[in-house]
Amino acid sequence: MLRALVTGGAGFIGSNLVDRLVKERYEVSVVDDLSAGHLDFLKNAKLKNLLKTTFADPAVLQLIRARTFDVIFHEAAIPRVSYSVEHPVETTEVNVMDTVKLLDACRGNVRGRSIAGAVESATRFFRFTRRDWYSGAHDAST
Ligand SMILES: NC(=O)c1ccc[n+]([C@@H]2O[C@H](COP(=O)([O-])OP(=O)(O)OC[C@H]3O[C@@H](n4cnc5c(N)ncnc54)[C@H](O)[C@@H]3O)[C@@H](O)[C@H]2O)c1
Repeated sequence: MLRALVTGGAGFIGSNLVDRLVKERYEVSVVDDLSAGHLDFLKNAKLKNLLKTTFADPAVLQLIRARTFDVIFHEAAIPRVSYSVEHPVETTEVNVMDTVKLLDACRGNVRGRSIAGAVESATRFFRFTRRDWYSGAHDAST
């Protein structure tokens, strides 16, 4: 039985993914700090472990380094565009820097990982601000 970790597993995408993985007989653990997720989304899911903390928690990274998981699906993120433009430092910290910590822990310790969701969130802020700049919407005097 493959052991999967879903970050952001109490969110929209993560919880649907959890349902699918359980159906496909993965042993599923979730890490979610519940900043935007809902435990209700997981009420019917048979989980191995539910970690209510950030995915960059040293204890979570240690579990990854200890080869606890065969595959990691990284869906935890701060995905809202307007929030990321208003709070670029916090958003970059979670979506970029914490993601790098997760990937670093995965190196050599996890067979497979999917980070499409979080990477999209990480790059969206930069795409948005760059477009803003080149369209002239950015006022350099402010
Ligand atoms: N929903 C969509 O249509 C869609 C489409 C394309 C890509 N995506 C991407 O998929 C990813 C998930 O999107 P979603 O719609 O499920 O968002 P969501 O907000 O519903 O889920 C994100 C989950 O991550 C959790 N979370 C946030 N920061 C965390 C942290 N530091 N540690 C642990 N958990 C944390 C939240 O509590 C939440 O449960 C995002 O990266 C998003 O950009 C979503």
